Amino acid sequence: MENQERKKRILSAIKPSGDLTLGSYMGAIKNWIGFQDSFDCLYCVADLHAITVRQDPKELRRRSLEQLAAYLSAGIDYRKSIVFIQSHVAAHAELSWILGCYAMFGELSRMTQFKDKSQKNADNINAGLFTYPVLMASDILIYNADLVPVGDDQKQHVELTRDIANRFNSVYGNVFTLPEAFVAPVGARIMSLQSPENKMSKSESDPNGCVLLMDKPDDIMRKFKRAVTDSGREIRFDRENKPGVSNLIEIYSAAAGISREETEARFEGKSYGEFKPAVGEAVVELLRPIRENAESLLRDKAELERIYKEGAERAAALAARTLNKVKKKVGLIV
Ligand code: TYM
Repeated sequence: MENQERKKRILSAIKPSGDLTLGSYMGAIKNWIGFQDSFDCLYCVADLHAITVRQDPKELRRRSLEQLAAYLSAGIDYRKSIVFIQSHVAAHAELSWILGCYAMFGELSRMTQFKDKSQKNADNINAGLFTYPVLMASDILIYNADLVPVGDDQKQHVELTRDIANRFNSVYGNVFTLPEAFVAPVGARIMSLQSPENKMSKSESDPNGCVLLMDKPDDIMRKFKRAVTDSGREIRFDRENKPGVSNLIEIYSAAAGISREETEARFEGKSYGEFKPAVGEAVVELLRPIRENAESLLRDKAELERIYKEGAERAAALAARTLNKVKKKVGLIV
């Protein structure tokens, strides 16, 4: 019944395994804002996902709070949306155990992120790294989310979530809503400024390749001025042959809220030397208010605590209903 009456639901999350990047902002947070009026939204700090690679505990706590502050300063309204920290709602981890019994070794082994991460962390290929997508599936399914706004690289995990939900539903009836990934037409794949064939990521080795949400204007400008471009002179979108320039077009388009074609037209006849600082300036202006707001929010830790506690309470109430239903279905005594 609940399904017919309620607004469609959205859940998304970011793991605080590093400082937030322009990639996670453009691929995820930026799209979250606009959904708040027409959907029931839950936005979460996925701290349990972060510990699949070794973290400094103090740093993890700092980044989790900073990430929460960034959500709010970017425009997530905690009165409209439920904003919370994953580990505060224990039901996610509990559901994750149950769903792990409905996720196959073979399908988890095929996850691109698992393959990448196990290469990068060859000395710590722990079980959490392997079952990571099951926890993500639990994050999504426990709220019966309809839509999951993510960047391109997380689409595969949302598809796996559907497969797990389908498998469970085919045994026990219609328990879970099948979620769909929402991948924005522009900004879903932001690449490194130094090696544009790789995703911009917090774990990048060259710090000039990655723009952080909290970077100061001078740092942002420096990174864009040094951005790798391609041979040739034309400002034209062609990921395969011109990955550097295409990435800058993508970033400018997402920052200015226009299409790639409009960006090409705006810079027609201009040189790379003119284009690169223009992209930098657009990003500086985009990020300035977010950074400034976040800095002031972080000064009031008590208010942040009030917000995440209230978020956890609201989320836990919803999560408990699904978990209870699932437990009954599989034969646990509740
Ligand atoms: P994470 O923390 O790696 O990334 C968070 C979000 O940002 C997007 N993203 C990017 N988009 C465009 N260009 C980039 N360079 C870029 N880098 C990151 C990601 O696609 C993602 O949307 N497992 C998830 C976190 C998670 C989650 C969930 C997501 C946990 N539970 C439930 C959705 C629903 C992750 O590691 O994302």
